Amino acid sequence: MKLTGSLSALALAAFSLKTVSAANSFAGSNLYYAAGLDSATRGTLLDGLQSAGMKVLRVWLDGQSTTQKGTNIDPFPDLEPNVIGTYNDTVLERLDDFMIDAQAHGIKLLISMHSFNALQAGDVYGKQYGTGYFYEQTQPQQQFDARLTHVLNHNHTTLGKPWSQLSDYIFAFEAENEAMIGQGQTYIQDHQQWQCDRASTIKGVLGSNSNILVVTGGESWMAESVQPNFLNCSSLDVISIHSYGTGDFATSSIQTYVQQAQSAGKKLLFEEWGACYFSTSNNNCPTGSALDADTRNSNIKTWASQIDAAGVPWLYWQVLPNADPHQDQDFEVGLNDSSWSTLQAAAQAALQATAAFDYSSYLL
Ligand SMILES: *[C@@H]1O[C@H](CO)[C@@H](O)[C@H](O)[C@H]1NC(C)=O
Ligand SMILES: *[C@@H]1O[C@H](CO)[C@@H](O)[C@H](O)[C@H]1NC(C)=O
Ligand SMILES: *[C@@H]1O[C@H](CO)[C@@H](O)[C@H](O)[C@H]1NC(C)=O
Ligand SMILES: *[C@@H]1O[C@H](CO)[C@@H](O)[C@H](O)[C@H]1NC(C)=O
Repeated sequence: MKLTGSLSALALAAFSLKTVSAANSFAGSNLYYAAGLDSATRGTLLDGLQSAGMKVLRVWLDGQSTTQKGTNIDPFPDLEPNVIGTYNDTVLERLDDFMIDAQAHGIKLLISMHSFNALQAGDVYGKQYGTGYFYEQTQPQQQFDARLTHVLNHNHTTLGKPWSQLSDYIFAFEAENEAMIGQGQTYIQDHQQWQCDRASTIKGVLGSNSNILVVTGGESWMAESVQPNFLNCSSLDVISIHSYGTGDFATSSIQTYVQQAQSAGKKLLFEEWGACYFSTSNNNCPTGSALDADTRNSNIKTWASQIDAAGVPWLYWQVLPNADPHQDQDFEVGLNDSSWSTLQAAAQAALQATAAFDYSSYLL
């Protein structure tokens, strides 16, 4: 809310701030391999996201060496390519450039500092600890906390400040994409403390006035993503929802979680969702025959507006800077896709929707 100079307007503003929080929602996107884009492709993507009014792009740190989703990759290694605690900062330096360009497009980065995908695929942590001990034992927890600290303390190559102080460029940090996801819902319920402990490491480096959010990084669906001990963890600011099941897109369903978050003093972010390209169940999208384009566009429009109506900002999985080759799980929309104008309009509509959580001070 903008304050004007007059006393009555100030009094009125103070009054309305207490009674309602009328912040607007917003939309954004994901691109897990963003650090692999050359500068021309990065510009194409950011121009597209900006034309949709998208405010946040979520990126990961896992190394990439081959074409992903039809995008040519400028290869880069994992942050810890061979040995835990021995860092190759190439990915961080790539993102240094990316965040400068993103900011010029009105977009901040949400930085996911590891992924369950890399753990399961056998990165340095996966090789040594597997997908169970990694979460259970003290030594990997300490080693992983050192990685998180390394990332947060990375000095930006041209700005000369650590990422922990770059709130003009960085929207949020999360420890890991979909922590524990392959272990199932009961395991996640039983190991909620892992998430809060990592958040406490992140918050410890950021401090309490960083203006950068600490988020969870999501699970497989709504009920799994929103855990009671995430809601009462003081170091977590935002609970991320990942879901591709259409029941979780229903406004009334989302609203029950909005109420839980609001009473716990937390924010929600629908950090991953998408509309399947194929005519399969929406949450089972690796292959099939193409869904009729009008039906898919209607799905995008309807589900985005249902999430908007619950007041939750959202990030689409994913906008591609190139034509979608329709590989793997296929929720993507390429910038030349017949669904792009629909997604673009949906993202612009999110900016007009009333949010249940005030993110305004974290956005450009
Ligand atoms: C980091 O990775 C880059 C790209 O693969 C490589 O050129 C560089 O030598 C590596 N740096 C170190 C310190 O290993
Ligand atoms: C970042 O730069 C500052 C100031 O130049 C320096 O004191 C600090 O040690 C550097 N941090 C890292 C992790 O290199
Ligand atoms: C959070 O709630 C759980 C029960 O749902 C409880 O066991 C735990 O102690 C609480 N933690 C804090 C920090 O309040
Ligand atoms: C997008 O570009 C690809 C590759 O140039 C092309 O095959 C496809 O037909 C284009 N799609 C649309 C909707 O224009």
